[in-house]
Amino acid sequence: MRRSLAVFDEFDPTGKKSFANAINRFRERNIVLPKFSELKDPSTFEPDLLEALSDVAPDDADPLNLFRVHWFNTPNQPTPTSTPDHIELPPELTGTSARIVVALGNRFPMISAHKVLAAYSCLVARLVTGRFDPTVNRAVWPSTGNYARGGVAISKIMGCRGVAVLPEGMSRERFEWLDRWIEHPEDVIRTPGTEANVKEIYDECSRLEADKSNIILNQFSEFSNHLGHYAVTGPALELIFQKVTSDRPAQLAAFVSASGSAGTLGAGDYLKDTHDTRIVAVEALEVPTMLYNGFGDHNIQGIGDKHVPLIHNVTNTDLIVGVSDRATDQLDVAFNTPAGLRSLERQGVSPELGSWLTNLGYSSICNILAAIKSAKHWKLSEEDVVVTVATDGSELYNSEREKVMRRDFPSGFEDADAENVLTTYLNNTSTEHILDMDERNRNRVFNLGYFTWVEQQGISIEDFERRRNQSWWNGLRPLIEKWDNRISEFNAATGAKHRK
Ligand SMILES: Cc1ncc(COP(=O)(O)O)c(C=O)c1O
Repeated sequence: MRRSLAVFDEFDPTGKKSFANAINRFRERNIVLPKFSELKDPSTFEPDLLEALSDVAPDDADPLNLFRVHWFNTPNQPTPTSTPDHIELPPELTGTSARIVVALGNRFPMISAHKVLAAYSCLVARLVTGRFDPTVNRAVWPSTGNYARGGVAISKIMGCRGVAVLPEGMSRERFEWLDRWIEHPEDVIRTPGTEANVKEIYDECSRLEADKSNIILNQFSEFSNHLGHYAVTGPALELIFQKVTSDRPAQLAAFVSASGSAGTLGAGDYLKDTHDTRIVAVEALEVPTMLYNGFGDHNIQGIGDKHVPLIHNVTNTDLIVGVSDRATDQLDVAFNTPAGLRSLERQGVSPELGSWLTNLGYSSICNILAAIKSAKHWKLSEEDVVVTVATDGSELYNSEREKVMRRDFPSGFEDADAENVLTTYLNNTSTEHILDMDERNRNRVFNLGYFTWVEQQGISIEDFERRRNQSWWNGLRPLIEKWDNRISEFNAATGAKHRK
């Protein structure tokens, strides 16, 4: 099947009926859509919205929670905070004097992971351009778990059916959440394999696509995912950077993100445009697709692989870093056990910071290790800040931790084990498995995407090639404002208001 690039810059000429139905549905349910500019800066929220938010819990399937799809949530208050919650890791722990700063994604509503932002971005761009009819269409969310959960949450709020497509081997907590949120059990589709089996997800989507009422919101190829992070995550990280450097000037040297769909990496494009920040893409060492054209399996849940997403701006990427899932598995044990916390304290980590490390899921730990590797590789100093994200927290991996305990620490995790894990994987992080993206490497990794997108997924060679050039990506940016204008028009047409 021939496919065009999912860049929704114009209204779909065949979409008038879908658009009218969407307006009616949103009017009936009193759903107001947030603009990207509002999610970027919730300090713009009007008092009536703030008051309404005070009555809604972050995990309710309530339309007002669309106004929590941003980085400014905090567990202690119902309304947005001024700077997103974040952690700065001390040099005693990281072994580098560069400042490693992590934004916390488990503050996002409903799914406790920032992937609900990607889901909102992908659906809203279609909705306001006449490409999704919530009264007829089923929204299909292919993912390794969190994006599917985010999509199911957004679909439920909008009163349409959402279908989660994810590998059967993902963490038990993801499936338990889906059981709670999905009304029809057949709307959870388990594909063969685990984290790195993305091709199997695409195959299932091709099958589902035969039914025209299914709309596949493919996060790996919808540019709204990239742009949502460019518009919302980038500025949120910039604000954190400004906060942590307000009394100690430094430069925003690098942005680090493990690539699943590569959506989050879009924040790096924003930071490069505004701060000349370098962009680091990270992958599991057990499946080193970009580093070594490798294949295999890994347990850094959420970062897929064996393909290069269509929305990855590869030729804007400066470094590729590989991180082993042994490190993330075992550090997760250290951050979530008394022995680990005692060892951290002996290393000078305050009990308060120690307790915040539970906010780090596997890919978050992976991002931190890659940030340290990058800082060491580039010999960054205390005048350099490296920012990264914690997509989700350790609460999604309690069942995985039990498996790791049985496999690696069958007789218990004692202080000596904790010392060993922290020293091996954190304090002495090596600079192995790093690739500088010179022009040759950029083109090599870019070309690797050909096999998925042109050969398998029906993208034309011309469309595939356009993405090699930065001017094409720069041409995408004005879409954010266009969608915001359409969102305003859409809200005006529904007449929906902020109230409970
Ligand atoms: C836990 C986790 N970490 C990292 C990622 C990767 O983020 P992105 O898809 O924006 O590259 C995902 C994506 O689903 C995820 O669920």
